[in-house]
Amino acid sequence: MKFTQTLKSLFRPAKQEESPYLTPVYGGRWDTQPIEKNRLPEDSLLPTVAFRIVADEMNLEGNPALNLATFVTTWMEPEADELIKIGATKNLIDEDEYPQLKVIEDRIIRMQANLFNVPEDCEPTGVTTIGSSEAIMLALLAHKWTWRKKRQEAGLDDAHPNIIFGADVHTCWEKFARYFDVEMKVIPLQNNKYTINADDVAPLLDDNTIAVGVIAGTTFTGQIDDIQSINDLLLQHKSTTGMDIPIHVDAASGGFVLPFYQSDFIWDFRLEQVRSINVSNHKFGLVYAGMGSVIFKDTSDLPHELPFEINYLGGSMQNYSLNFSKGSSNLLAQYYMFLRLGQSGYRKIINSVMSNAQYMEQQLVKSGFFEILTDAEFLPTVVVRLIDDSHYSVYQISDELRKFGWIVPAYSLPPNAHNVDVLRMVVKENFSRDLADKLLSDIITVINQLKNNTPGTRSVEPAERTTCKTTPHGPC
Ligand SMILES: Cc1ncc(COP(=O)(O)O)c(C=O)c1O
Repeated sequence: MKFTQTLKSLFRPAKQEESPYLTPVYGGRWDTQPIEKNRLPEDSLLPTVAFRIVADEMNLEGNPALNLATFVTTWMEPEADELIKIGATKNLIDEDEYPQLKVIEDRIIRMQANLFNVPEDCEPTGVTTIGSSEAIMLALLAHKWTWRKKRQEAGLDDAHPNIIFGADVHTCWEKFARYFDVEMKVIPLQNNKYTINADDVAPLLDDNTIAVGVIAGTTFTGQIDDIQSINDLLLQHKSTTGMDIPIHVDAASGGFVLPFYQSDFIWDFRLEQVRSINVSNHKFGLVYAGMGSVIFKDTSDLPHELPFEINYLGGSMQNYSLNFSKGSSNLLAQYYMFLRLGQSGYRKIINSVMSNAQYMEQQLVKSGFFEILTDAEFLPTVVVRLIDDSHYSVYQISDELRKFGWIVPAYSLPPNAHNVDVLRMVVKENFSRDLADKLLSDIITVINQLKNNTPGTRSVEPAERTTCKTTPHGPC
């Protein structure tokens, strides 16, 4: 219903009071003709003019460098930008025409499998995707097929698959359940407990469970589900019932942090029941938006019926993805980053973002206004709540910070912890200690203004800041 409305609103004529034309003001230099903005314009423009119009519209947006809402990379080196241009001309699906792209993709998958400690006797496989959502759907679909095959072979009912996960998952898990017809068994969060463990999972397991989903770095608090205890539970379940229930780890955010910051912490393929992992390359893999990966521990974890055999692009190739065509910019950018940084480079960057996140936490606590919801122990996410929210809320602070250019989301946690309202700051590579100090000082200014009931007064020169219109409430 909402979707139809959105389509209608796209095609309806512009509002009466709004001009239907883009009218650039560059005078005689370029163009003074009105340009249709809701119909494909009849006439062409010079490249300079078209470029200027589009670039100017981007000026209305928030400043990515001050966007602490997103986990997604907002800065890369110029060499990566060059490779991104090269990659934009090559469709990643055209393996026969661009065989080296496939070689690079396979290398990236193997490097990641290795980073996630795949055992020597396994033969990992996987694909790169548009992001973690696609990666998660592909992984869970594979587990659904494996479960269904086993049920069919045993002559059992296969009409009621279910999946167990906590309310700490990203929306894409619910999307999977809805789109692929799998019942969700969602474990609610509690006050002061924002992740799940074996005790939560145990009562929900049954013959129709296709997988247990766990998160290594939740979107809401940056914490990690108790993956080890859930692995132990499933091992015990296997030995008593013979049912082999896989774990899928959503390491969208943690996948490139844990191996470099907490390498002794065991969450990955070292655990027997962990059969697949997704990661967002566009988060701490440090490439721009548009790339994730799914890695299966062994080729046997991806049912052979799922990849399609394709021969109409010349040659024959296997394809396992939800979409088809896409550029190869991000793939090249990720390959560049792996070669450029190596493990030591990632380690340095991750250590420095973690240290800046911990600094932010300490200073926010020192201010006396906030308490830390969860320590930035595993992920560089700073999640705080107000000690006293009787006079102003985190939502007001978030709104006021936007006047200074900062994008700091405020939101409530998922049920049953929805009475907890937090501010979250994702610290990334381009967020320096200096910027941290500026943000801290702006937060204190905003709170003092809210206390004195004078919000909106700027304490810094407006020229230093940009305003933004991006939603503060979308955690990613
Ligand atoms: C834990 C987690 N899983 C999945 C996703 C979805 O990832 P993507 O935006 O790459 O599809 C996110 C996004 O932030 C996330 O935080």
